[in-house]
Amino acid sequence: MIASSTAKSAVSTSAVTADPAAIERASRIRARYRKLIAITLFLTFDLIMFGAFVRLTDSGLGCPDWPGCYAKLSPIGAMQDIRAAAEAMPHGPVTVPKAWIEMIHRYVGTLLGILIIGIMIQAWRHRRVLEQSPWLATIILPAVSLQGAFGAWTVTHKLMPAIVTAHLLGGMGLLALLTWLSARQGGGTAQLPPVPTKVRRWRWAAALGVFLLFTQIALGGWVSTNYAALACMDFPTCHGEVIPEMDFHGGFSIVRGLGELPSGELISQAALTAIHWTHRNFAFVVLIYLGWLAWRLRGVPALAKPARGLKLMLAVQVLTGLTSIFLQWPLVIAVLHNGGAAVLVMLCITLWVRLADRDARLEPVRLGLAARDAAAVGR
Ligand code: HEM
Repeated sequence: MIASSTAKSAVSTSAVTADPAAIERASRIRARYRKLIAITLFLTFDLIMFGAFVRLTDSGLGCPDWPGCYAKLSPIGAMQDIRAAAEAMPHGPVTVPKAWIEMIHRYVGTLLGILIIGIMIQAWRHRRVLEQSPWLATIILPAVSLQGAFGAWTVTHKLMPAIVTAHLLGGMGLLALLTWLSARQGGGTAQLPPVPTKVRRWRWAAALGVFLLFTQIALGGWVSTNYAALACMDFPTCHGEVIPEMDFHGGFSIVRGLGELPSGELISQAALTAIHWTHRNFAFVVLIYLGWLAWRLRGVPALAKPARGLKLMLAVQVLTGLTSIFLQWPLVIAVLHNGGAAVLVMLCITLWVRLADRDARLEPVRLGLAARDAAAVGR
């Protein structure tokens, strides 16, 4: 459904190209649409990083109700309640800075929702000029709504690890969808030669890369939300052993509260070790696979940039992961590790879109209008 038919687009192209004023208008619409997606993508990336900041500063319950803060629109109106809670428990979940951190995250999330509605409206209104199915832009709206719901459940379920990890994965999923939408607009790729048909077979390899990456992100989220970052302080060994004592059953039981086992007992060191050990060792699988993929695709002009970026970011990700352990988990490095994962998502999705999405503007046959637009604007 997402791929539009070439015949249909040819009809709309010839209809639009008949009139130079219409060409210029089409060019403006496309540029505006690209800009709106770029702004939304940038904001989503920031929100993911800020989400890590919320998590790592323990601000997730800074306002213990939802959607308001003590039923007020902002912490200003709720100051009395916040101060009372902070006085009762100075190191508890509610303090004035934590309330602000949590609410800013919610405000930016709301703004993101509004921008996504704007994208969807533009995608339907200008679907002929854009020559793309509007369904991808439409799917993003329920995705952001679900993400909002996970944000609410994060608060109402008191930071339950499964929900917080799902919220992190949802953010990365949203980023992936927006990157897909952005990459198919072809900004900066119009002059590149098309991806040869035989290289397009690599789309399955890229899809597997995306799957492995998301698995690793889920494992990383599980480390973070279970506070298992320092469960192994040495590397490459863990507690001085290649395979230390671990409790996988306890570590990977999904339905349980923060810091506990499903039985309600306190989570054990062996369970935290299992969580940490799995994330750092699965990283090797991801690094080898994505590194190999980037190396194989580096020679295709339309893929060279994201392939190079992928190699670089894999190295950065290992560095921030290791630094996190050796420097005992400094906040800024942990946030950068999260941002690195987000950049990896964008790079892998860009590679996949350029290999697989027929609506992406990479093939010369589909560049007719874009080329004429450029000529019309240049006149
Ligand atoms: C492709 C490679 C990797 C990816 C995509 C990845 C991704 C992630 C993600 C998404 C998180 C959650 C961050 C958050 O909740 O804010 C995380 C946490 C973590 N990762 Fe990785 N990671 C990778 C490799 C590594 C490596 C090689 C190490 C170290 C040996 C490592 C150590 C950690 C640690 C200690 C945490 C917990 C940090 C915290 O609590 O905030 N990671 N990772």
